[in-house]
Parts: sequence; structure tokens; C-alpha cells
Amino acid sequence: MELNYINKLMSEASSERFSGRKVVLGEGKPKCNIMLIGEAPGADEEEQGRPFVGKAGKNLMGFLNTAGLKREDVYLTNVVKIRPFKLSAKTGGKINRPPEREEINFFIPFLKMEIEAVNPNLIVTLGNVPLQAVTDDKKATIGEYHGKIICVGESRVFPMYHPAAIIYNRGLEDVYYKDIEKLVDNL
Ligand code: URA
Repeated sequence: MELNYINKLMSEASSERFSGRKVVLGEGKPKCNIMLIGEAPGADEEEQGRPFVGKAGKNLMGFLNTAGLKREDVYLTNVVKIRPFKLSAKTGGKINRPPEREEINFFIPFLKMEIEAVNPNLIVTLGNVPLQAVTDDKKATIGEYHGKIICVGESRVFPMYHPAAIIYNRGLEDVYYKDIEKLVDNL
């Protein structure tokens, strides 16, 4: 199925199920080498309608650049295509929250179609949510799987920590650089 058609189906189904919520579609060239899959859009992504344009995205691009990769070289998407948020008790403003199981389950079939259409040489999952979605294993953890290739059906999958994890845990930076090196070796 064509990406445009999958996006149309997904957007229609999403506005029926999550009415009024902006959908952030995947971005990049189909049939490209690497497909990066994140968890869900945040505030900046929702505002601009593009994946990985906020702080975590800038972090991610910084790491990719060290490996000689640019944003235009990869396909970027998320498991959940709407921003998961709750209202702050203090300010009443929107704050991010982790996606709920129901939201994840709703978007997984569309993600699987998207993967088929993009048909990348390598899928890079960023954090636990995409790792579990792609492997269909709800117990898979990034701590166990990061930095090594796993085969899922026809796909080669390379799990990495989520780039936001480095913002909160600077100790992971070295691990991230090492994983990026291994990623390049596997291209
Ligand atoms: N931005 C995204 O698009 N996805 C994430 O998982 C995090 C930030």
C-alpha cells in the first residue's frame, strides 16, 4: 500500500477515535536506508506537525550527525501519531504524559503498514514503546536489547534508547555514542 494512502486511512480513523487531535505523520523518503521510530509527538511536534523537531529531536539529530547522517537521509516517525497530554493541576496547561496502552494499540496496525511501505534496510526503535510495538513483545526492555540487531520477520531492528533519556540521564551519553557507532557498522 502507498504511504499517502496509509496516512489518509490513519488520519481518518484517528480523527474519528481521537477527535480534534492533530495527527503528526511520518516524514522522509520512502525506501530509504533507515527508519527511526519514536514514541509519540510532544508539544513542538504537535505545533509544527512534524516528528522530532523539539528538544529530543535536536538531540537525536546531533547524534546522527556525528555518524555522518542528516535528517534528509532517514525516515522519521512515531508509534502514536497524536500528542499524549494531560492538563496540569497547577497551570491548567497541557503537559506530556506517556502514551496509554489503548492509544498504542490503536496506532500499531498503521505503523506496521507504514514499515511495509517504507521498507527500510534497518529499523531503529527509540525507547521501549517502539521496541515493544515492533517486536510485539510487551516485556522487551531497551536496557536488555539496545545496541544489537534483532530480526523481526523480514525486518532488521536496531533498538536504541530514546533521545530524551539522555536529557534526564547524562550517564547514558557514552552508551548512546557507542550504539550509534554500532548502528553505522550495521548499515
Ligand atoms: N518527538 C517525537 O516526535 N517523538 C518522540 O518520541 C519524542 C519527541
